[in-house]
Amino acid sequence: MICLSIALLASVATVMAQTCALPSSYKWNSTAALASPKSGWVSVKDFTHVPFNGQHLVYASNHDTGSTWGSMAFSSFTDWSSMASATQTGMTSSSVAPTLFFHTPKNIWILAHQWGPTTFTYMTSTNPANANGWSGANTLSTASISSGTGAIDQCLIGDSTNMYLFFAGDNGSIYRQSMPIGNFPSSFGSSFTTVMSGATNDLFEAVQVYTLQGQTKYLMLVESIGANGRYFRSYTATSLSGSWTADHTSESAPFAGKANSGATWTNDISSGDLIRATNDQTFTVDPCNLQLLYQGRSPTSSGTYDLLPYRPGLLTLTNPGARSGGSATGSSTTGTSTTTSSTGGSTGCTAPLFGQCGGSGFTGCTVCASGSSCTFSSAYYSQCLQ
Ligand SMILES: *[C@@H]1O[C@H](CO)[C@@H](O)[C@H](O)[C@H]1NC(C)=O
Ligand SMILES: *[C@@H]1O[C@H](CO)[C@@H](O)[C@H](O)[C@H]1NC(C)=O
Repeated sequence: MICLSIALLASVATVMAQTCALPSSYKWNSTAALASPKSGWVSVKDFTHVPFNGQHLVYASNHDTGSTWGSMAFSSFTDWSSMASATQTGMTSSSVAPTLFFHTPKNIWILAHQWGPTTFTYMTSTNPANANGWSGANTLSTASISSGTGAIDQCLIGDSTNMYLFFAGDNGSIYRQSMPIGNFPSSFGSSFTTVMSGATNDLFEAVQVYTLQGQTKYLMLVESIGANGRYFRSYTATSLSGSWTADHTSESAPFAGKANSGATWTNDISSGDLIRATNDQTFTVDPCNLQLLYQGRSPTSSGTYDLLPYRPGLLTLTNPGARSGGSATGSSTTGTSTTTSSTGGSTGCTAPLFGQCGGSGFTGCTVCASGSSCTFSSAYYSQCLQ
């Protein structure tokens, strides 16, 4: 059991670890479009997001006014209202449909993507804020499927023993590869398992898989093509190597879509990332505070898919499910600093810079590497920062 406390000046607030059920129906509100593509680009899309130094760090695909796909990063920003003024940096090494996370076992940032030299490719870095500071391309997967697009839209996730790569193919199936976590990062090879099959439009693309904070439960999102725009279906599983159970899969009552998004500037609720509680390979999300960074576009836009004017928007779940957990034994400190107290973590070891050092259910190292200190981010996550 871990309790976290934040002390700001004289006011002391104690935050208890809690978790929430998924709601029986999802209701969201939405921001307007949060940013416009910079000059020369028609779209920014396929967002991947991590909490980084207490800010939001977002990478995305972009498309120019011609026929070229690329990738970019926003300079990190504190509030979503600042995304519009964040610097947009194009990458010299294109990383389309990116997936960004910190791989804790090897203390390295990973940016995975499609359309590199192999089916899926990854790059590594020690500073993800530098959009052009990534390594060269490494093979992540050589899986091949027969569909118009081939394998697209990878996502990665780890549990304590394995790393998994899920992907789609615009052809009605979701696929999975895996390897022992100690072997990552390296290639998942060519063999894969089909975990779900259905109609092409139902299991189309943009698959994402997350760990639900405080639960032995995983959430999968899959983008579908509906009669009224793109929407997300959801599935759950109790094991990443197991089978998936439908959560919300209809266009009229989806995980997120026109029917429940609250968005007025877009009909599409399309490719993006749930806002994670951690930056690591567990892709942990807090079901009490679900937010989805998605791509939307003006309902009057039309024409070639590649030139559609996709922009970022943010959904916030307004009806989280029932809360459970937590306890009444918090600790508190005074002063202007933010501290983490942990009774569940391990103090006999050292967490790396940018590594997790505290949070509900965390059992890893709580002492930070020299030169960094354990900084509170949320009840579920503290991180070693400089
Ligand atoms: C999708 O691709 C898989 C793998 O190549 C193939 O077995 C399957 O028939 C395809 N599905 C459709 C609907 O084309
Ligand atoms: C969405 O709802 C949350 C509370 O559930 C509120 O804090 C937030 O301001 C709302 N955002 C928008 C864009 O309406």
